[in-house]
Amino acid sequence: MRIRRKPWARPELAACPFCIDEEDKPAVIGRWQEQFARRQPLWLELGCGKGQFIAQLAAEHPEVNFIAIDIKSEVLVLTKRNIEQAYAQRGLPIDNVRILSQDIERIGMILSPDDRVERIYINFCNPWTEKARHHKRRLTHTRQLRNYQQFLSSGGEIWFKTDDDVLFDASLAYLESCGFSLRYLTRDLHQSGFSENIPTEHEEMFAKDGVKIKFLIAVNGGGVSV
Ligand SMILES: C[S@@+](CC[C@H](N)C(=O)[O-])C[C@H]1O[C@@H](n2cnc3c(N)ncnc32)[C@H](O)[C@@H]1O
Repeated sequence: MRIRRKPWARPELAACPFCIDEEDKPAVIGRWQEQFARRQPLWLELGCGKGQFIAQLAAEHPEVNFIAIDIKSEVLVLTKRNIEQAYAQRGLPIDNVRILSQDIERIGMILSPDDRVERIYINFCNPWTEKARHHKRRLTHTRQLRNYQQFLSSGGEIWFKTDDDVLFDASLAYLESCGFSLRYLTRDLHQSGFSENIPTEHEEMFAKDGVKIKFLIAVNGGGVSV
């Protein structure tokens, strides 16, 4: 994704009360529940992009706490604005969602086994299909899954959407080798009748071009092959 430079992004995020700053990261690891108004289940979105998805999901679920992560401040600042808009429309305080800029390959710097996460969303991550040596950068690669398993509860879920068949098939194998079981799978989400879907920016773009959206829900430690 090509992003236009936004010199105002970092100052705007620094002034945002629900954005976790770089210097605050050491204080939140292992203590995420203290960052929210209520102790309640914790769900995570990895690579949230411009944040249309997390803004709607978090505002619709005040009974859940959310963390949204992206590596780029230039998109995270748009997540911030989308969240503000979604909560303002509903007249809600922004007390169950936090956002931060972080490289997911180093997610152990911000989440520990003391932070029990019940659900992880990965939407339209980079498929890294061109070079085999880049596969390990996939957000669904076994290397990343093992990191997520440090804080993902047993029975916790990964909800994964992609436009890319190669990435989807590879991800099924990665999940199986890390002991996940499959709760749901469709290769055409928009025709599947699945009723809980919230479309992301990339999803809308691919769907407009007629690309079928692949989607799965995998359960951590279910022990059944996928
Ligand atoms: C293709 S976009 C998808 C954005 C959004 N999830 C959607 O579906 O519209 C992938 C996003 O993941 C972020 N990303 C890629 N690699 C990352 C990493 N290692 N750590 C954190 N974010 C990453 C990118 O900055 C980008 O915003």
